[in-house]
Amino acid sequence: MCGIVGYVGKRNSQNILIEGLKKLEYRGYDSAGVAVYTTNGLKVSKAKGRLANLESKLGDAPLDGTIGIGHTRWATHGKPSDVNSHPHTDNSQKFSVVHNGIIENYIALKEELIAKGHVFVSETDTEVISHLIASLYDGDIVKAVQAAVQRMTGAFALGVLTEYEPDKLVAVRLQSPLIIGVGEGENFIGSDIPAILEYTRNVYILNDGEMALLTRDGVELMTLEGNFISRELFHVDWDIVTAEKAGFDHFMLKEIHEQPKAYRDTMGVRLDASGRKVVLTEVGMTPEQIRSIRNVHIVACGTAYHAGLVGKTVIEKLARIPVENDVASEYRYRSPIITPETLVIVVSQSGETADTLAALREAKRCGARVLAITNVVGSSVAREADDVIVTWAGPEIAVASTKAYTSQLIAFYLLGLYLAQTLGTQDEAAIAEVIAELKELPEKVEAILAQSETIKEIAEQIATHDNLFFIGRGVDYAVVLEGSLKLKEISYIHSEAYAAGELKHGTLALIEEGIPVIALATQHDLFEKTVSNIKEVKARGAHVFGIHEAGNEEMAKVVDQVFAVPATHPLLTPALSVIPLQLLSYYASLARGNDVDKPRNLAKSVTVE
Ligand code: M6R
Repeated sequence: MCGIVGYVGKRNSQNILIEGLKKLEYRGYDSAGVAVYTTNGLKVSKAKGRLANLESKLGDAPLDGTIGIGHTRWATHGKPSDVNSHPHTDNSQKFSVVHNGIIENYIALKEELIAKGHVFVSETDTEVISHLIASLYDGDIVKAVQAAVQRMTGAFALGVLTEYEPDKLVAVRLQSPLIIGVGEGENFIGSDIPAILEYTRNVYILNDGEMALLTRDGVELMTLEGNFISRELFHVDWDIVTAEKAGFDHFMLKEIHEQPKAYRDTMGVRLDASGRKVVLTEVGMTPEQIRSIRNVHIVACGTAYHAGLVGKTVIEKLARIPVENDVASEYRYRSPIITPETLVIVVSQSGETADTLAALREAKRCGARVLAITNVVGSSVAREADDVIVTWAGPEIAVASTKAYTSQLIAFYLLGLYLAQTLGTQDEAAIAEVIAELKELPEKVEAILAQSETIKEIAEQIATHDNLFFIGRGVDYAVVLEGSLKLKEISYIHSEAYAAGELKHGTLALIEEGIPVIALATQHDLFEKTVSNIKEVKARGAHVFGIHEAGNEEMAKVVDQVFAVPATHPLLTPALSVIPLQLLSYYASLARGNDVDKPRNLAKSVTVE
């Protein structure tokens, strides 16, 4: 995900910016750039690819100056390229901006600015900010930034410089992290603590809706409305490795906790302000093309495949189009029946999985339209698909996929609703009901995360076993498949996930005294059936952990231990019920002393067949 560094002081800012950006490399990025106020004015240098490319450019043409901003970009709006890299400037080149996050109303702002004569050179939402600030500037950069922020909707962190006030660096935070580092005769901004840790351990952590004015001599904190704030300095005593994980013990835990943000970012601009419609501008299919879809194939590997299983339920229930799921490594060898009326959806966090890419190519060879759901803009899958829905989960570093999976679920919800509204298979009220529930998911995830200790206790019991079972029905079955994969992957405990009604056809023979069974029962219409299956395993001595929806008092009567997730629309339960299963795997792995982030034998991206 993007990284921000800024500096004002007496040293060479270019070097400090580059060193700070290097500390943010672990977040992932595909281009980088810096802007420095030099004796020749505000100058920018940017390069696609690794920081080494930018360093080499700066080696040939250094930017000497003592105030600057730098950025590593992880592409969202527009492909990775020099021109789309930050910092972005206005037409006069007097204002420069680095930005993390998304400006949701950037298209409307851009049209307004174009009408006033502004010329845009990039595909990014960020470029709008530099133009907007320039258009509002009247001799006071703080006021111009405040006025610009009032016009912008979305989530963002900003670093802003202007040649007109070359001693001032302005920082803004709105739902995207930003910290201020305080030194002696020098001050810093950073999207993460590691960026500045080499220079200072004294920081102000900006809260949402706050901004700061940095000069060599000090830092003024204020609200976006201009009211000054006084705050204690926070002394960071983490080492650099802990700082990279934002204080979490592992990347996996950090990524589990990033899910509320990933949900918000993935929904973001795609939910119309009216709350009654989904807007998927990235899907280029015309209504006629959508109406001509006869069937859907969802193809992926591992966790992404499991997201696709939920996707099947979502698309079939909302859009009433028949869906088949395929493991990508099997797809092209089974001579699938693909016609020009088949929509093939490939799902891949990395966008580089060899089997998924091969399936995509096979689908295209057979004349199907291919829609990709991926987390990486500019990946092979994104480049080769006809339409791409990007999941804005940010880079996922732990091998075990968590926030990418749940963002893929959000993408399927958006797609299912979009197809339904185009086909008219659901009325506006039904669509609005799902959208309203979607918007509430991030807070509900936060409520589950707040109960992590309860899950940890269950995980510690489970960690002492070598075998266990997961059961569920309907969409819960898709979720327990993912829960079981996660547990196997990082705890190395053998587990099997079963459609609860299928146990008695063989697997019940494996149930013996004390074996843990995790039963997921969130679906009201299937609850009684699942309870019958729970009783079958209980009668044979299983110790059952039940996960159910809050408000259902019946589960506690039939299982040994319960965990409730907040109630939501029946189709959306996977986006909540998977969270305790992720935490369960994490804590079980921890209890077993495993390397949580790098499980044995596995790679993050599988680029071989
Ligand atoms: O990058 P992709 O989504 O294509 O990766 C697919 C699988 O390799 C991946 O989901 C894998 O199963 C995860 N490590 C599971 O946590």
